[in-house]
Amino acid sequence: MEIFHISAECYPMAKVGGLADVVGALPKYQTNAGHNVRVVVPAYDTKFKKENQFECVHWGSVKLGSFNFPFSVLKESTDVLGYELYLIEINELFDRPNVYGYEDDIERFLSFQIAALDWIIARNEVPDVINCHDHHTGLIPFLTQFAYKYEKLKDLKTVITIHNGLYQGWFGFDKLHYLPEFDLKHVGFLEWNNSINSLAVAVKCAQAVTTVSPSYLNEINYAANGLENLFNSVRNKSKGILNGIDIEVWNPLKDKMIAENYSIENFEIGKQKNKEKLCEQFELDPSKPLFSFIGRLFEEKGGDLLPQASALALSENFENINILILGSGNSEIESQLTQLRNDYKGNYNVFIGYNEELAHLIYAGSDYILMPSRVEPCGLNQMYAMRYGTIPIVRRTGGLRDTVIDFGDEGNGICHDQASVGDICYSINRAVKLYDDKISFNKVLKRGMEADHSWESVCQDYIEIYNLIIEKNEI
Ligand code: GLC
Repeated sequence: MEIFHISAECYPMAKVGGLADVVGALPKYQTNAGHNVRVVVPAYDTKFKKENQFECVHWGSVKLGSFNFPFSVLKESTDVLGYELYLIEINELFDRPNVYGYEDDIERFLSFQIAALDWIIARNEVPDVINCHDHHTGLIPFLTQFAYKYEKLKDLKTVITIHNGLYQGWFGFDKLHYLPEFDLKHVGFLEWNNSINSLAVAVKCAQAVTTVSPSYLNEINYAANGLENLFNSVRNKSKGILNGIDIEVWNPLKDKMIAENYSIENFEIGKQKNKEKLCEQFELDPSKPLFSFIGRLFEEKGGDLLPQASALALSENFENINILILGSGNSEIESQLTQLRNDYKGNYNVFIGYNEELAHLIYAGSDYILMPSRVEPCGLNQMYAMRYGTIPIVRRTGGLRDTVIDFGDEGNGICHDQASVGDICYSINRAVKLYDDKISFNKVLKRGMEADHSWESVCQDYIEIYNLIIEKNEI
């Protein structure tokens, strides 16, 4: 089967969050399973782009209203990632270091989608399925069906995978003329609450909707930033598929980014060495339990709760615990977290920014990973953590609910229900007690390490959906 994944992110070409990890890994496993898989992302000015070889396989020009943007399609020459990677190069729009956050993001991602389809239609064969990811590629299921110039793709099947339903890519009808021409009787597909809502368009037009965990699929029926009714109405073509993790990239036995390799056989020594390195780097005490947070510092991830929860947990357990935070995002949260350094020197530290290598060392060297998310469509960090023998402390929501079970129920982690400072501190206190009971602690940790979250088992679920929509047009 020929499968296209079209996405704004793909690790290691361009990563902001978990979307990149998924689009960087799932295609590899689909390729291994015998499919022809092609991944298409914009050609941002990233390290990966600079350091790899590309050949131009197509060029053209995207017309956006009265603007014309020349574009090229660049194929990564060596298939170094285990699948074919294509970059859409539109210099005026993407020759910038960041993935998102520009005033013209709507124009950028619209041009990207149009250029990708222009290229696909210029090829000889029509793929079997396009898997779109999040709102940045949400117009594709509409354009393939209704834009005159993509007539040849009319019957092409599309899937929208929702990694985060809070962001929807809204824009006004004043930009309607940016879209390639289509029969106006279909304009209703574009509209949600008087604007064009890219995510809603995809949910309406794609043959299947997938979310990145089963619990998140249930949650968006009552919490989806205004799209609840829409999600309810498409339940019969929706499925929640829990993400996998790339167990080749995330393997404590082979990981070159950590200080000492280890497996479930010798994790005590291995983790201790990594912890020592980490604690030395951040002036922490390796004899105390280390609680870490890795991620974006936003409310959605419970980032706003971290400063107060850290201060409270550290003062209650003064001299008893370490807390280490790696992340960036909201500048208010960043500065609160930075200030805490002065008050809890030796027990607390923070690294503002993102650093993939440091993230690996933190998973290897921490005892607990904190995930106090308000919303977590899947969450990969808890799975990485467990694979590295680090016990997750999570708020029960979305994919966290599906992957972490409280140790009180013979599970692999520590869970609470409220996104509150009180609940986080309560969990930290339970974690401190568990840490002191080494036998129980190791039991919980091993349950996490033993779990199989590999893509191999999950990748088939996607193929099944593609097959159903190809054969029956529904799932
Ligand atoms: C988004 C979600 C996260 C999910 C990831 C990959 O970043 O917020 O929960 O794990 O996408 O699907």
